[in-house]
Amino acid sequence: MKHALPSAELARDERFVRNSFMARAADPRVTAMPAEKRNRRLPLSPDRADGPDAARALMHGIFTGEIQALEGAGRTCWDFPTGTGADEAPFELKLDMARQCWDEARHCEISVKLGDWMGTDIGEFAESTFLYDAACNPDPVLRLTGVNRALEGLAIDVFNTMREFGERSGDPVLEFCEDWMLADEVTHVKMGSDWLRRLTADDPDRRERALEFQRVVDKLFSIGGARGEEEDSPIRLARRFRELAGFKTEEIDEIAELSAESRRELAAHQERAALAAATGEA
Ligand SMILES: [Fe+2]
Ligand SMILES: [Fe+2]
Repeated sequence: MKHALPSAELARDERFVRNSFMARAADPRVTAMPAEKRNRRLPLSPDRADGPDAARALMHGIFTGEIQALEGAGRTCWDFPTGTGADEAPFELKLDMARQCWDEARHCEISVKLGDWMGTDIGEFAESTFLYDAACNPDPVLRLTGVNRALEGLAIDVFNTMREFGERSGDPVLEFCEDWMLADEVTHVKMGSDWLRRLTADDPDRRERALEFQRVVDKLFSIGGARGEEEDSPIRLARRFRELAGFKTEEIDEIAELSAESRRELAAHQERAALAAATGEA
C-alpha cells in the first residue's frame, strides 16, 4: 500500500472521463466566443434557457467531488501513523475522518441517484481531480485546511445553490437531498476548523502554513470566479452556513476577494488562448 496515492492512480472504471479545469477553460469552443459572451455569467436558475443542463453539469461535478472527498478522508486515516507528532494524526482525528468517509459514501450514493433523477449518465461530464490533489499534502493539518475548510467549504456553497435551485424549480427530491448533504458538509468543515485550531495551538508557523495552503486551494476552488459574491455568480458564497462551520467574517471576506481574483485570472487565461488560436500559435 502506498502513502499519498497520486490522483492518476485513483480507481475509476471506463465510464469516467478526466480533464483538467484549465484545459476545459481553454476549449476552442469557448475561446472562439467574443470576450463579452465568454465572460458573461448567470446565476444558476430554472429560468435560464440552459438552467437544467447547467444544474446537471453541477450535479455531476458534485458526484465526482463526493468520490474524491471519500478517497481523501480515507487516505488521511491511512497515510499517517497514529500519534500527536508533526507527521502523525491523532486517533480522534482519524475517527472524525472515518465518520466523514461514512458520510461521503452516502453522498456518493445520493449523488449518483440524483444524477439519474436529473437524466445524467456517469461520465457525461469530465472529472477534474484537483479536489483529491489537495488531499495529498504530506502534513495532516494542511490536508484538513485544504480539504475540509476549502473544499468542503465550497461544497457548502454548491449544496446551498443546488438546494435553492431545487426549491425554485419545484423539485422536492433535489431540494431535500441537498439540504441533508449540506448539513453533513457543515459538520465536515467544522471538523477542519476545530482540528486546525487544536493541532496548531502552540505552533503559529504551522498554522500560518496551513492557512496559506487554504488560500491557494480556495482560489483554485473558486473555479475562475464561478463561486463568488458578484450579482452574476452561478454559485453564491453561503455566508450563514460558513459561520455555522466556524468561519469568521473576515475569513469569508477573504474568500470573496480570492474568487474575484480567480475570475480576473481566468479571463486573462482565456484571452491568451483566444489570441494564440487567432495567430495560429499552439
Ligand atoms: Fe460530501
Ligand atoms: Fe464532505
